[in-house]
Amino acid sequence: MHSAPTWDPQQYLRHAGHRARPFLDMLGRIPQLPSGSRPARIADIGCGPGNVTALLADRWPDAHITGFDLSREMLAQAEKDHAGATAGGGWLDFRPADAAHWTPDEPYDLIVSNAALQWVPSHPESFAGWIDGLTPGGTFAFQVPGNFTAPSHALLGELCETPRWRSRLGDHGRRYVHILEPADYLVRLAALGCDADAWETTYLQLLGGDDPVLDWVKGTALRPVLTELADDPEAAEAFLSEYRDLLRAAYPPGAHGTVFPFRRIFAVARKLS
Ligand SMILES: C[S@@+](CC[C@H](N)C(=O)[O-])C[C@H]1O[C@@H](n2cnc3c(N)ncnc32)[C@H](O)[C@@H]1O
Repeated sequence: MHSAPTWDPQQYLRHAGHRARPFLDMLGRIPQLPSGSRPARIADIGCGPGNVTALLADRWPDAHITGFDLSREMLAQAEKDHAGATAGGGWLDFRPADAAHWTPDEPYDLIVSNAALQWVPSHPESFAGWIDGLTPGGTFAFQVPGNFTAPSHALLGELCETPRWRSRLGDHGRRYVHILEPADYLVRLAALGCDADAWETTYLQLLGGDDPVLDWVKGTALRPVLTELADDPEAAEAFLSEYRDLLRAAYPPGAHGTVFPFRRIFAVARKLS
């Protein structure tokens, strides 16, 4: 059994702009909520540092929005930066929860999840319970990365499998892919009685600075390795140095920055009344 990776909100937030864009694109596809004149009730599963959770209050100003996450570090950051009354008279709070076992504790008009369910292998099995917990006409919407065969992740997997790192990290360095293809999500959600939409987008992110792809994955895909090597700074630096060289060759910097293509998968499912 692997221990959960430790998250670093500051490192994660270094690329907040690029990371928020898919969330905003998803938000644009969410239909009107069924709450009518009462404030909407919204859950954000795997809310992280809360910056995208807070964007929900721009669209539904008087909503009661709760962000759920497993990471103490992420929840502390979210609490500090975003908890409390919102400008439109709504309320934002954050609670610990493991998405693998979370079930709606009250009816929700909207359940969203951005860039989190890839960490939860069983997530497709939770869809029925989550949709059950929606008010009629409510929406379940999520986005997951679909880039696990991209060089950034393939090289990380290959490095972890080399004898040196395999013996040091065991299975900890290996990220298994826990996402489905967009068509699979579409069929599952339609079968659960939803008006479903699924699609994918590859964002061509132009990143600045030195070794920007390494800097990016330090906030996400590298968390399990960094957590495992946290008590051995020398080994961590050796691993990062090897991985850095591989990334430099795969993503050479250009005159205007480094192009880091990033495929993302989206699904928006409205529960039919
Ligand atoms: C890449 S971050 C995304 C954060 C935020 N949704 C955003 O879009 O910026 C992934 C988040 O998923 C959370 N997470 C991972 N596994 C989880 C689980 N089993 N239950 C709840 N949250 C989990 C992590 O703690 C982390 O905050």
